[in-house]
Amino acid sequence: MHSALVNLHDADDRRLPRIAPACSLVIFGITGDLARKKLVPAIYDLANRGLLNPAFSLVGFARRDWNGQDFEDFIRTSVEKHNRTGFNERTWRQLATGLRFVSGTFDDPAAYQRLAETLHELDTTRGTGGNHAFYLSIPPSWFPAVSQHLADTGLNQRHGTAFRRIIIEKPFGSDLASAQELSRVLGHAFDEENIFRIDHYLGKETVQNLLAMRFANTMFEPLWNSNYVDHIQITMSEDIGIGTRAGYYDGIGAARDIIQNHLLQLLALTAMEEPLDLSPTSMRVEKEKVLRAVRLPDNLDTSTARGQYAAGWQGGAHVRSFLEEDGIAPDSTTETFAAVQLFVDTRRWANVPFYLRAGKRLGKRVTEIAVIFKGAPHVPFDNSDLGETGQNSLVIRVQPDEGMTLRFGSKVPGAGMQVRDVSMDFSYGHAFTEDSPEAYERLILDAMVGNAPLFPNQTEVELSWRILDPILRHWEASGIAPQSYRPGSWGPAAAHQILARDGRSWRIP
Ligand code: BG6
Repeated sequence: MHSALVNLHDADDRRLPRIAPACSLVIFGITGDLARKKLVPAIYDLANRGLLNPAFSLVGFARRDWNGQDFEDFIRTSVEKHNRTGFNERTWRQLATGLRFVSGTFDDPAAYQRLAETLHELDTTRGTGGNHAFYLSIPPSWFPAVSQHLADTGLNQRHGTAFRRIIIEKPFGSDLASAQELSRVLGHAFDEENIFRIDHYLGKETVQNLLAMRFANTMFEPLWNSNYVDHIQITMSEDIGIGTRAGYYDGIGAARDIIQNHLLQLLALTAMEEPLDLSPTSMRVEKEKVLRAVRLPDNLDTSTARGQYAAGWQGGAHVRSFLEEDGIAPDSTTETFAAVQLFVDTRRWANVPFYLRAGKRLGKRVTEIAVIFKGAPHVPFDNSDLGETGQNSLVIRVQPDEGMTLRFGSKVPGAGMQVRDVSMDFSYGHAFTEDSPEAYERLILDAMVGNAPLFPNQTEVELSWRILDPILRHWEASGIAPQSYRPGSWGPAAAHQILARDGRSWRIP
């Protein structure tokens, strides 16, 4: 009895919520959009869910000339506006006692000295025990300087069992060479195991459910291979344009912004073999095998497509073209839509095409993985009765309406044998009473607990660039501008042709 109780409290017991140890989290770029809308609210929601140690402290680092009260007001506004779990005055008061602000530029050594003093003060007055994580929510061009300054100030140095970690947001380079260079620079200050690279898609509940769905059940896995699967479509579409993010987006584009990271990670999780366990090592071994096995078709003209949104009407409003957006060069050839066809050269997936697409200003906001099965090899009735029946499909709806849809043929009531496609739906909203946490809640908590399976490592990043680089080089060498597409549509004609050539079509989500 006693040992059962002890086991239940084992830190590795996945049924128990893990709680962040006493620590401080320093956010560089705290005034930016991501910090304001996602990171700070996620931290508050973690506190509200009781997942932070009472000593948890949040340190903001930014250029503003703020005092402590200004910072507290800023954090409170962000929490009140964007929290998920409801504003609770008690949670807020607890969190507020651990707020600190360091004013300075990212290249000012004196500001890092002040940061070191602040962290020391937190260790002594709040018992944060030397555990410090540094979250770089800043343009990547600053990553090398910030990590170097942290090292110069000794803030990267761990003492005893305390941790020092750096958390970075993509893009991790803009091609293989720059990703390797970034890794080399960060590696001067932090060991690979203390570098946490955020791919926020991996923090989404539905993405993690992919593992549960595939490996906790018996009925999907026997079909999960080239014997039964015709092809797989992975879609990440947004109905918004680039908004105010021209500075980040121009020159980056949809392939680097979404396919290199989010979509290739979804592909890896969809295609991988069962990992030995959910440890970072076991997960990465399997994902890496998939990424290594990815093959591009020979003809990149016919197997890839890029587009740019034109001006037009969307949702009842007239919207500008990409080239008319503020801050975009009028002759920019950055793509706002990209589609590619890939193969995974393993026995399981031999000759099964994976079609990936990502874009802005499309029909609606949706991310999904659609597994399209082969048609029945034979039917014991007249084929013409199969009129409206398509292929069976299993659609994993990553967002916004999280869940899964199974589509299959069913008899239409009546005397004849008419078959029509019907759907069976699982929806998170109906099946569970608890709302899904935001991806950033999960990832920030994991980074502080030191649980890394949801963070891509450098090898995965490099393998993904190895897949994308030839496509990017091909596009650049061809000198062909992206095809324009109408807002609210499903991308340029070239994207449809990729599938049409194979006698297939994209799903309309
Ligand atoms: C980010 C991209 O990684 O994901 C953005 O840089 C995109 O361009 C965003 O808008 C979408 O995230 P989500 O969670 O809203 O699908």
